[in-house]
Amino acid sequence: MLSFFSRLKWVRKSKKTQSSKKKDEISKVSSRTSESTNSSSQPKIQTSSVYTNGRRFQAYKDCNYILPNDDTEIDRLHLEHWLMKNVLGRNFSVPIEPELDRGIKVLDAGCGGGTWVLEMANEYPNSDFTGIDVSVGWPTEIRPRNSDFVVGNIVSELPFEDNTFDFVYMRLVGMGVSNDEYPTVLYHIYRVLKPGGWVELVEVDGAQVYRGRRSSQFWNAVLQYLKMRGFKTGIVKDLYQKVEDAGFVNIDGMRVRIPLGTWGGKLGEVFEEDVLGAYRSLRPVIQPMLNFSDDDFQSLLDNLPAENNEVRQEMNWFSNWAQKPTPEQIRFR
Ligand SMILES: C[S@@+](CC[C@H](N)C(=O)[O-])C[C@H]1O[C@@H](n2cnc3c(N)ncnc32)[C@H](O)[C@@H]1O
Repeated sequence: MLSFFSRLKWVRKSKKTQSSKKKDEISKVSSRTSESTNSSSQPKIQTSSVYTNGRRFQAYKDCNYILPNDDTEIDRLHLEHWLMKNVLGRNFSVPIEPELDRGIKVLDAGCGGGTWVLEMANEYPNSDFTGIDVSVGWPTEIRPRNSDFVVGNIVSELPFEDNTFDFVYMRLVGMGVSNDEYPTVLYHIYRVLKPGGWVELVEVDGAQVYRGRRSSQFWNAVLQYLKMRGFKTGIVKDLYQKVEDAGFVNIDGMRVRIPLGTWGGKLGEVFEEDVLGAYRSLRPVIQPMLNFSDDDFQSLLDNLPAENNEVRQEMNWFSNWAQKPTPEQIRFR
């Protein structure tokens, strides 16, 4: 089932709380340690970051994720969460509402600031929610009792026993999990899901067409940068096929086309705020790729809204969900 729709019932203005990081503090490595108040059994978690041109980026071993992990970016992810929830209509599409009410175990892979985990944990107090990410962007002290967070790279390790979860949610990890790596991640998700458990994957369309000259120029530089870091391609393609290849059944999905820019009303305006935030977040690494001066890059950003309106830019998001087969389903395949 593929359907196109767009709607906006709820809009949140992003907080412009740019935390002032020292400019030009290039390649200074910092380590952060935090301890979850909810999991006394959990060891102290250690992760590392690197500052580039005033923004903080993850430096977790073997992780290629290219967006920053600082407060400004976490604020953007909060905004994006509310945007996605409105566009998709809810926090998940898998048919497991009664199970969530009764109490199940849920994992959010690449959870970012943990907004999805925290909200779901509040809405479904009988279920247990775990988030995993290479960076600690979640609240480390105050959060719902039924939520927990773990640091880890979902490509090289998903540190959970086989058959642990009833539902795994993964959203917008395409800048950290390459097209080539996606099958490995799906393998691990399949492994940690219980038979009959559900996975839901939300990603930006990999075959995205940028209609304007400036946005094409920007995204070509992003793709070039991803390739330089060892990504064959950074954006996930053929999600449906990958899910099928991983052995999942009952695959379903939707595609949502979202206007980018004020030509698309309030939804387009908020989405543009989100996307321009991502461009600003990528500036420290993409501006050198473009060989642009500060003024050149600023002019690119300043001109994008007009271009988006002129070409009526849109972006597609996909959501695909599927089930790990039960032994009976495997027998009757
Ligand atoms: C665009 S954010 C999305 C965050 C969250 N899923 C959401 O939708 O709000 C992508 C997140 O994936 C995380 N990530 C990317 N690659 C990862 C990897 N290989 N292992 C663990 N986390 C990863 C990043 O650190 C970042 O927090």
